[in-house]
Amino acid sequence: MIFDRLERLRARVERRRGGHPAPPPADAQRRRGEPPRPRPAGELRARADALAPWYQRVYLGSGVHTLEWAHAAHHESVWASLEPALPADLRGLSVLDVGANAGWFSLQAKRRGAGRVLGLEPDPRYLAQAELCREAWDAEVEYRALGAEDLGAVDETFDLVLATGLLYHLRHPLLALERIADLCRDAVVVETEVVPPRRRQRIRMRLGPPERLGIRSVDSGFMKFVEGDELNGDPSNWWVPDTECVQGMLRTAGFRHLSRPCYLEPTRLLLFASKAESSALDFDAFGRSSATSRG
Ligand SMILES: C[S@@+](CC[C@H](N)C(=O)[O-])C[C@H]1O[C@@H](n2cnc3c(N)ncnc32)[C@H](O)[C@@H]1O
Repeated sequence: MIFDRLERLRARVERRRGGHPAPPPADAQRRRGEPPRPRPAGELRARADALAPWYQRVYLGSGVHTLEWAHAAHHESVWASLEPALPADLRGLSVLDVGANAGWFSLQAKRRGAGRVLGLEPDPRYLAQAELCREAWDAEVEYRALGAEDLGAVDETFDLVLATGLLYHLRHPLLALERIADLCRDAVVVETEVVPPRRRQRIRMRLGPPERLGIRSVDSGFMKFVEGDELNGDPSNWWVPDTECVQGMLRTAGFRHLSRPCYLEPTRLLLFASKAESSALDFDAFGRSSATSRG
């Protein structure tokens, strides 16, 4: 196999350079895209089906995916757009995955070499899925049954925080971003449903003290409240911000440097933000993928 030959060649080059020691076979196996000790396909299929329905398509080994789709899942498109901005090797970096679902992003981070990876997921059904996927990959990822409201219970900090598909599920999104900023040493990745730019309303803002009152018409920086299940028939959705609102909340939470916004679909925004100018994420590389970028 070409992968085996490449792996042997890579290990030989590294030995000659006196660099990192050759990785153990389990890591090599993971890099090839296969779990270190794949279980039989029938067993994996039965265990995955017992935990359905799945939101994330995760490869479990032996040709079995949690979801058997021919097309890319949304999280795969998110990762593909983000990838140019990620260091080739996440070694030495810790990652917090908030709203981890079945742990696809956590596993990707681990596969790319991240050190400590913690996934938070409040829904026990998704947590069980995450445990199955973690077990299938024999991955050193920890999952905790916590939501973004419980971030105060996490008493460690992380280089990168992933908040994908999360903001619109939160009753208090700004508060959650502030908590995320408390735990985040470097950067946060945000992917969220947004109000598309051309569907905006206008409101009139009163500016200044009463004796020098000015009125200005504004058409951005909004967040739509979702009272029932009107968004995707899902009652766990609360707010749909527009891009400027997400950017403003990130700055308010303490993330001073924002990437360009990328749109995976007209209503799906992906961007990242760091606290300091220098970041492990490559701001210049971001947005040069197939997703459209504005701004
Ligand atoms: C749309 S899925 C996104 C999953 C994953 N982050 C991704 O991008 O593929 C939303 C996830 O957030 C979880 N979630 C819902 N409310 C949450 C909350 N208050 N705090 C953290 N996660 C939450 C859901 O259970 C679900 O797993």
